[in-house]
Amino acid sequence: MTDNSRGFTSSIGAILAAAGGAVGLGNIWRFPYMLGQNGGGAFLLIYVFFVIMIGIPLMMTEFVIGRRSQSNVVGAYRTMGGKHKGWMALGVLGIVAALLIYAFYSVVAGWTLNYVVLSCSGQLNGLAPDAVSQTFSDFSQGSYLPLIYQFAFLALTGLVITMGVQKGIEKVSKVLMPILFILLLVMCVRSLTLSGASQGLNFLFKPDFGKITGKGVLEALGQSFFSLSLGMGAMITYGTYIRKEDKLLKTSTWIAVCDSLVAILAGIVIFPAVFAFGMDPAGGPELVYIVLPNVFNSMPFGNIFSIVFFVLLGIAALTSTISLLEILVAFAVEELHWKRGAASVVASLMVFAIGAFCALSFGPLKEFTIFGKTVFDLFDMLTASYIMPIGALLMVIFLGWFYPKAGVRDELSNGGTLKARFFGIYYFLLRYVAPIALIIILIYGIIG
Ligand code: PFF
Repeated sequence: MTDNSRGFTSSIGAILAAAGGAVGLGNIWRFPYMLGQNGGGAFLLIYVFFVIMIGIPLMMTEFVIGRRSQSNVVGAYRTMGGKHKGWMALGVLGIVAALLIYAFYSVVAGWTLNYVVLSCSGQLNGLAPDAVSQTFSDFSQGSYLPLIYQFAFLALTGLVITMGVQKGIEKVSKVLMPILFILLLVMCVRSLTLSGASQGLNFLFKPDFGKITGKGVLEALGQSFFSLSLGMGAMITYGTYIRKEDKLLKTSTWIAVCDSLVAILAGIVIFPAVFAFGMDPAGGPELVYIVLPNVFNSMPFGNIFSIVFFVLLGIAALTSTISLLEILVAFAVEELHWKRGAASVVASLMVFAIGAFCALSFGPLKEFTIFGKTVFDLFDMLTASYIMPIGALLMVIFLGWFYPKAGVRDELSNGGTLKARFFGIYYFLLRYVAPIALIIILIYGIIG
């Protein structure tokens, strides 16, 4: 079978759609503040190391499972697990993770829409730093605007998913991903030409290993998982849409390169600007919503760059929310036999029902905490630090130790085009390196 009529129509379509799923708020919002809080360049090096050693093999693993089973995340483990139905629980974990991530992710995605509106209407123009912070807290702590913007983002995503895999996901990704790259490059040129840019570049690229802590190493790994959307079935779902003749090593490598490149470019946009205007690089999650508007206010044509930046952030978020919703919709369509449109509406409403608690976590529900965390923080921590690594660990055990080696080789080698040596390296990483690394990290995470 050369044409996979339910899936992506070309290699580039597959790469752009999956890269769109990977490239998101994680790269432009989460990565810079993680790097800022963990001392800069050394964090970047450790992050890249994890992407190569664990991220790419795990992505190949998800693609193998998806393409081999031709099934959504629950169906994949049912089909490939044979009579061992217990593996299906791993698929269910993926569905739960997608719901939880989408619930808090859509909040930050909604903020982005609000910032596009604020930038376009000039409401951030010329505000003093205090007023910029005040604007962010007034908005994020509000009781209805965050909900409205979250709902708008969910609706936009639902619309794309209803249009289908080829006409929705693939088409939108093919248009938006190149735009995202161009906008990012425009922003890079602007940032690099600011006087004082070199200090930011030093911060980003000059490793100072003295600043790295055990927690920083864990965060670098967690960030690589979150950024590449690994460990919960997003790439299994997209794997089912990849054509049989596409090479999974090449596809995974391209996606990882795009993803890391966008994170690094985002760093090149943000840190020179932060240093040039004397802001704090360790500004935390609010880095892009508070620090950057201040930066834009202190540069010529800042308002235009502010619009460009938040549109870019919105695009990155949208291609990722699409991949989150597709996990849920593929499950509902294939397992529950729902229509695509209905599945998309029901799943989005469910996410909104849960996500509303996250949207209100900064204001009315600030005091509503579980294990000392707001619902937003709880979902973020539960997924990135626990469900994704645990899901990934069980997944590598499944494919490396339970599923027949010949099947893995067959799926990866497209009739023998993957060199034996590459397969050997992959299989070694799958069976030994990934599980051991994941166990160590989980133990650290749990006792630390
Ligand atoms: N990889 C996305 C990002 O970096 O923003 C986040 C994400 C999307 C995680 C989809 C998981 C997922 F299924």
